[in-house]
Amino acid sequence: MAIDPASPVPKYVQLRDLLLDWIVEAGLSVDDPVPSERELGARYELSRMTVRQTIDLLVSEGKLYRVPGKGTFVARPKIEMPLALASFTQDMLARGYRPGARDLVRRIVPASGHVARMMDIEAGAPVHHIERLRTADDEPMAVERSNIPVSIAPNLDSYSLSGRSLYEILEQEFGLLLDSGEQTIEAGICDAADARLLGLAHGSPVLSMQRRSFSNGACVELATSTYRADRYQLHSRLNPRT
Ligand code: GLP
Repeated sequence: MAIDPASPVPKYVQLRDLLLDWIVEAGLSVDDPVPSERELGARYELSRMTVRQTIDLLVSEGKLYRVPGKGTFVARPKIEMPLALASFTQDMLARGYRPGARDLVRRIVPASGHVARMMDIEAGAPVHHIERLRTADDEPMAVERSNIPVSIAPNLDSYSLSGRSLYEILEQEFGLLLDSGEQTIEAGICDAADARLLGLAHGSPVLSMQRRSFSNGACVELATSTYRADRYQLHSRLNPRT
């Protein structure tokens, strides 16, 4: 395939699609180098500037990465996160990663006004506050902060969460089968504390999520999560609008 000069699609976008196809056809894998800008320019009869625009686009999309002085390489594919009421453990296992969790904070605190309003409980009511660093194959992926009313999971603090899923404990030990939920996801930038935990530069892009999950109409968990945007992408199936 060649660049079509008569196409209304900008040349750098055409080159992006050609390069992505070529990477698959040539059987390139993660960390393999792609041809230099000069080679690509000669191969597709394009200016260096156009080729650079394409590479910039692919780098910003997370498909390629540059190493100064060395070249441009194929990046690891991002992990697809389905928009479903699944646990981190389920999501990672479904994608062939080994899920992990490191406890950062676990304590019982009085619900703040915000937490109480969001969970429909009394302000000041005790909630388990759990902060965890979530890992996939030992690589830090997300910082998750959960609030769970003590009234519905009284001795949750006595269960270890390393090596065990929170949702599994809620279901098996407290009979709290999560049956509905809602989630908002926003683009954000990583603050200094989370950047340190995630091994990112301060100000790196992240996906900020807030989730409320319910069991039989009662709010079980109010969670805020910070996911690395360089390793995650959201995925959803689209059904016709009803
Ligand atoms: C997801 C949700 C969190 C929830 C977690 C439970 O990541 N965003 O709100 O706390 O799953 O995961 P696990 O059951 O693996 O501990």
